[in-house]
Amino acid sequence: MKKTILITGGAGFIGSHVVRLFVNKYPDYQILNLDNLTYAGNLENLKDIENKPNYSFIKADIVDADKMNEIFTNYPIDSVIHLAAESHVDRSISNPLDFIMTNVVGTVNLLNAAKTAWKDNFNDKLFYHVSTDEVYGSLGETGLFLETTPYDPRSPYSASKASSDQFVRAYENTYGLPIVISNCSNNYGANQFPEKLIPLFINNIKNKKPLPIYGDGKYTRDWLWVEDHAKAIDLIFHRGKLGETYNIGGFNEWQNIDLIKALCKLMDDKLNQPQGTSETLITYIKDRPGHDKRYAIDATKLNQELGWSPSLQFEEGLSKTIDWYLSNEEWLNNVTSGNYQNYYITQYETI
Ligand code: NAD
Ligand code: TYD
Repeated sequence: MKKTILITGGAGFIGSHVVRLFVNKYPDYQILNLDNLTYAGNLENLKDIENKPNYSFIKADIVDADKMNEIFTNYPIDSVIHLAAESHVDRSISNPLDFIMTNVVGTVNLLNAAKTAWKDNFNDKLFYHVSTDEVYGSLGETGLFLETTPYDPRSPYSASKASSDQFVRAYENTYGLPIVISNCSNNYGANQFPEKLIPLFINNIKNKKPLPIYGDGKYTRDWLWVEDHAKAIDLIFHRGKLGETYNIGGFNEWQNIDLIKALCKLMDDKLNQPQGTSETLITYIKDRPGHDKRYAIDATKLNQELGWSPSLQFEEGLSKTIDWYLSNEEWLNNVTSGNYQNYYITQYETI
């Protein structure tokens, strides 16, 4: 079946893996990658598919409502996979308004444009909204986030994502827009901007810079390999039930300090340096304000209904991720030049 799918945020970390998967796997689909190329968006992520006949790139800002309407007028879009977002918690603490504009206003602009273009005839249409487990808040020592867990966002980032999720649901309830939402845990893998924990620490170990651990390092996250997230999105897009939420997670919880020690060991091996060398870079710094203690996803529904499970063990995924960063020095140098330096100094001025 032919489709024209608008994927937003396709030049970013997760979006680029989703675009690549869809372009390669579905030659009959036209994939439109809409991205404003913020600091986190990088077309180098898609060099291998940029000349494929079923791929096009549109540079546009989802905050621009007129532009969104124009794009829906110019292309026969029948589905949206919406990933464009401001995505880093630390940046949301310094600049909450940027997150409200892109994550909330931008999402509502897309919902309006889709609703208008589809003229309330929603046969074979889909608005798929990609969200995060952070909307559920923070867990104690036990328990898991279920699809029914009440929302309790606690950072400006998660508040903006929770708000966008609620607007997507409101458009289904009020106008009958066909939607599906997925909420995923922390991703890792190739092409992640080195402000997030894993690529930041790989880059710092490579450059023998301190590894800034917030607070006591005993915060817990559930980690999923990004290509497994992209495969889950493919499954949910094609077989998910309309109106449903699907949680996606790695069944793979790590306290930050244990993860960092495992990363340090692997890095020592890869860099042919004595075991223990990278760990000497560990530096505890002032905690992130409002730092969520623990996230953990129960992805049983996705597993039971659609047969999805993560394909990679964490050690293997981490090893592949390190190899990617070590062999893509030019990518890393390009994204860490310019404004990245200013961000780094402001965020980590104490070390
Ligand atoms: P990212 O920051 O790497 O990429 C975001 C992309 O959106 C970039 O290419 C950027 O240029 C684009 N963008 C930002 N503002 C835009 C705007 N106003 N108009 C058009 N494009 C804009 O983010 P990511 O980590 O790939 O996350 C993608 C999505 O997945 C987000 O919605 C995020 O909330 C969600 N998510 C991320 C994770 C994770 O661990 N990274 C986990 C669960 C869910
Ligand atoms: P991050 O990659 O920012 O993802 P999120 O906050 O969305 O889960 O951070 C993952 C964990 O690592 C989180 O508990 C914060 C911690 N962290 C540090 O300790 N130091 C850092 O420099 C960064 C970026 C994160």
